[in-house]
Amino acid sequence: MAARIIDGKGFAEGLRQRIGAEVARLRAAGAGTPGLAVVLVGEDPASQVYVRAKHRATIEAGMASFEHRLPAETDAATLLALIERLNGDPAVDGILVQLPLPGHLDADLVINTIDPAKDVDGFHISNVGLLGTGQKSMVPCTPLGCLMMLRDHHGKLAGLNAVVVGRSNIVGKPMALLLLQRDATVTICHSKTSDLAGTCRRADIVVAAVGRPEMIRGEWIKPGATVIDVGINRILRDGRTVLVGDCDTEGCAAVAGAITPVPGGVGPMTIACLLANTLTAACRRRGLPDPEALAG
Ligand code: GUN
Repeated sequence: MAARIIDGKGFAEGLRQRIGAEVARLRAAGAGTPGLAVVLVGEDPASQVYVRAKHRATIEAGMASFEHRLPAETDAATLLALIERLNGDPAVDGILVQLPLPGHLDADLVINTIDPAKDVDGFHISNVGLLGTGQKSMVPCTPLGCLMMLRDHHGKLAGLNAVVVGRSNIVGKPMALLLLQRDATVTICHSKTSDLAGTCRRADIVVAAVGRPEMIRGEWIKPGATVIDVGINRILRDGRTVLVGDCDTEGCAAVAGAITPVPGGVGPMTIACLLANTLTAACRRRGLPDPEALAG
């Protein structure tokens, strides 16, 4: 059986259009323009690409984009002062500090200095706690995007066996919590899991977020299962740099019922969900209900 390819790019475009329409409605109602501030410390090439893409998407959605680029040697006091300033800036609804930060900066301290109401990454310890206890929070963008695609494909997730491979704070753990919130039966696997292949083989849903190129093999997938590939790995193949996920897409697609491709799967959804979170933060700050069209 050939798997259905879940078109994350197309899904993200639709979401971005709905966000653009909501932003236009807010502005027309005199509620102002939602604004996103992105802070980049240093010159990490991959981070520069991501920050540029975020800026472009923010502008395209009709929101205000505030970029702050700081040199790699920026000290903690300077960075924290900038965040405090953005916390107090009424034009800024969302704040994102691009990770990874240079090694001399304490990422936890920096993230926990962001006003939780403006924490569009959902990384602040308050938002982590709210998500963990099933309360209204800001939800990390990548798992939110995965959840949206899963709900679109499956409808209800209740009773499905979901395996999340990877236990990062950014993807694995919040993904597991979101699936649990939707009544899936969730297993988190990691580098010390004793029978990874067998555990994956029992899953109706496999979310791969390990950062290891093509680690999840077709033989590990239950026929008809849904595979969500969060990985973005650059590898050298036949003398060329190519982008691959954490799954052997071809092998998995031969067995799975549905699979996200790399590129064009989870990646575009992450940026769309950043815009969704910025719009949600803007609505909450204005005392308006969460935009329904964006529900995850
Ligand atoms: N670096 C890689 N992914 C992310 C993300 O989702 N948010 C931030 N802030 N930095 C990242």
